[in-house]
Amino acid sequence: MFACAPTLRNGMNEPGRSYAASATLNEPIAGMAGVEVLQSRNDEYPVGARLVVRSRWEDFSVITPDASMSPVLRVPNDMTIEDAMGIYGMNSLAAYFGMLRVARPRRGETVVVSGAAGSTGSMAAQIARIHGCRVIGIAGGQSKCEWLREGARISETIDYKSEDVAARLAQLCPEGVSAFFDNVGGTILQAVVDNIARRGRIALCGQIAAYNSDSSAPGPRDMMKLVYGAVRIEGFLLSDFIPDIEQARTELVKWNNAGELVHRVDVREGFENLPSSFLDLFSGANAGTLLVRTV
Ligand SMILES: NC(=O)c1ccc[n+]([C@@H]2O[C@H](COP(=O)([O-])OP(=O)(O)OC[C@H]3O[C@@H](n4cnc5c(N)ncnc54)[C@H](OP(=O)(O)O)[C@@H]3O)[C@@H](O)[C@H]2O)c1
Repeated sequence: MFACAPTLRNGMNEPGRSYAASATLNEPIAGMAGVEVLQSRNDEYPVGARLVVRSRWEDFSVITPDASMSPVLRVPNDMTIEDAMGIYGMNSLAAYFGMLRVARPRRGETVVVSGAAGSTGSMAAQIARIHGCRVIGIAGGQSKCEWLREGARISETIDYKSEDVAARLAQLCPEGVSAFFDNVGGTILQAVVDNIARRGRIALCGQIAAYNSDSSAPGPRDMMKLVYGAVRIEGFLLSDFIPDIEQARTELVKWNNAGELVHRVDVREGFENLPSSFLDLFSGANAGTLLVRTV
C-alpha cells in the first residue's frame, strides 16, 4: 500500500526544491509504503515482518534499512497497515512533533492550523484541542469545515475558498494568533502573520500552495512585523524526531483509545491509479490520508 504525499511533487522540480534528491526520469517515484518482507538478509526484519518504509512505486522492491533516508517503522501485530499509515502514520507523527515540539501551544491559547481537514492538519488541530487550546482550522470548502467542527470537534473554521482569511482571523482573534501550524504557505501564511500575537510561534510543516508553482515558496512580505512581535518561525521535518517516534505513537494510541481523535483515510484501489490519486492532493479531492492499495 502506497501513501501519496504532497512533498513528492517537490522532488519533481529542479534540484534544490526538495530535501531529497530530485526524481530521476524513467525511474520509479519513491515514497512511503506499507510493505511485507518476502525475502530478507537482515535478522531485524525477518520474512513476514510488516513495515512502513520508503519504497519505490513498484510491486517488489529492495529495501536497505540502514541506507534509508526515512525511518523504518514496524507495524505492531495488533495494528493494521492502514492504521500504521493512517492515524498512526508519518503525517500524524509530523503533526504531533510539529505541534508539540515546534508550535508548543499552551492551554487556553488560540491556535490556527492550515490544511486543517487534511491528513496532517486534522491531527495537528486535534492535538492542540487535546492540549486545551481554542483551535481555528482553515480548509477549502464547507463540507471540510463542517467535518472539522462536527467530526474533529475544532472550535472554529475558515473556508479559504469563500472567505477572506485575514479579515476572519482579525474578527475571531482580536488578541492575535498564539501559534500557527502551517501546511499551506502563500496568502494563508501572510494572513496569519498579519494577525499573529506578540511572541507567536509559527511551525512550518509544509507549503503546499507552492509545490505546483514554477517558483519556490515565498515568505511573509514584511519581516519587521516578526521582529516587532518577537515571533518565532521554525520549519521541521519528521526525520528530526526519529528517536521519539515510538513514544509519540504510544501517545496517539492512548488518545485514540480514549475517543479523543478522529481520522479519515481515503483508500484508492489499483497501482494504475497512483498518479491520478496523487494529483487529487493538489485539488483537495482527497478526504484525509490518501493511500493506494496495490495488492
Ligand atoms: N514537515 C514534515 O515532516 C511533513 C510531514 C508530512 C506532511 N507534511 C506537509 O503537510 C502538508 C499536508 O500534507 P498531507 O499529506 O497531510 O496532505 P493533505 O493535507 O491530506 O492533502 C493536501 C491538502 O492540501 C490542500 N491544498 C492543496 N493545494 C492547496 C493550495 N494551493 N492552497 C491551499 N490548500 C491546498 C487541500 O485541502 P483543501 O481542500 O483544504 O484545500 C488538500 O486536500 C503538506 O504541505 C506536506 O508537505 C510535512
